[in-house]
Amino acid sequence: MTVPRWDDEAAWSRWRNQWDLRDDTIYLNHGSFGPSPRSVRAARRRWLDQLEQQPMDFLARRLEPAWLASRRKLAQFVGTIEQNLVFVENSTAGMNLVAHNFPLQVDEQVVLTNHEYGAVFRIWDRACRRKDAHLVTARLPQVIESAEHVVDSIFAAINQQTRLLVVSHITSATALILPIDAICHRARQMGVAVCIDGPHAPAQIPLNIDQIGCDFYTASCHKWLCAPFGSGFLTVAKPYQETFQPSQLSWGRMPPDQPEAWWDEFVWSGTGDRTPFLATSDAIDFFQDQIGLDAFRQRTHALARYARRRIVELVRCDVPFPDSPEWYGSMALVPLPRGEAKPLQNELWQQHGIEVPIIDFEQQRFIRVSCHLYNTPSQIDTLVEALRGHLQ
Ligand SMILES: Cc1ncc(COP(=O)(O)O)c(C=O)c1O
Repeated sequence: MTVPRWDDEAAWSRWRNQWDLRDDTIYLNHGSFGPSPRSVRAARRRWLDQLEQQPMDFLARRLEPAWLASRRKLAQFVGTIEQNLVFVENSTAGMNLVAHNFPLQVDEQVVLTNHEYGAVFRIWDRACRRKDAHLVTARLPQVIESAEHVVDSIFAAINQQTRLLVVSHITSATALILPIDAICHRARQMGVAVCIDGPHAPAQIPLNIDQIGCDFYTASCHKWLCAPFGSGFLTVAKPYQETFQPSQLSWGRMPPDQPEAWWDEFVWSGTGDRTPFLATSDAIDFFQDQIGLDAFRQRTHALARYARRRIVELVRCDVPFPDSPEWYGSMALVPLPRGEAKPLQNELWQQHGIEVPIIDFEQQRFIRVSCHLYNTPSQIDTLVEALRGHLQ
């Protein structure tokens, strides 16, 4: 498949038209909530129809084989074996499961970075308090120049008491790709377990969880992979599997089958709508067989780079990490002049129909521009003109 030039709008319009976003909106916030293309929504609807048309046949006979088949495809896509992976509703659910199960003792330490997602802080703060353990924040360098620099800043916070490191694959507020291979390599040498918070990684960047060698990896599939809302996964490495438990116990496998492996407990967790898990397989088809992952990554990185360059030109601020696909993928982050974040975000929406997050991070104001297949360079031009008006 030949990839069109990044700015050949006629060629890219074929993909743009797979989404049905509202005409009054320029949606530059896929990083928060990622809508699905038409083929994925149709696949989910077909599963839902089966559920509604004959619930017994769907739930008791068809759901398990479809769950297993979709899991097989997802495991291959993220680079692990299916027996290491279970579906969960989102990365938040996966992270809570890890916090619920991780064998943390009194006075031991969990380390996370100052770029972690706010809810992840809360999850580990509660887990550490419950076990009289300590939560320690490692500060990444303010200006990022090299992977070694980042790894050293994390390991400066690790000591004999550290049992677990919780780290994003791509950070939320700062859209930064962290050097996860080097981080896990160093953690293994020191006997520290690693839990990766990865909701931005699937589809946005290549992912091979077994190669990374982490202990836990949790992600949402309803961000860059564009699976239905309410789809995510958790992988658990072998040493933790035997004792790993769901927080909500049900049959595990539909009787007369019995749960045997750790993951069996996650197949049937009570009656509900599991169609987002099943249509995750169609989201993978969309990227792998229809557009192609390289084409998707090239186009969306080029758009993010265009956004970064145009906004930098406007505000004349330095971005705190290099302009390279090593450090960012489909989301551009640019610091803005001092001011309040939320009023500007609201004005961009109310006055221009532009949905884009303006973020306060470490006493600085940033804009994070997410670029997906439905976005265009001219939408970014519109954003820049709107910002020009508001920042003067
Ligand atoms: C880095 C990171 N972790 C976790 C989450 C939570 O994702 P979800 O709400 O899908 O569980 C987000 C959401 O934006 C995030 O950016």
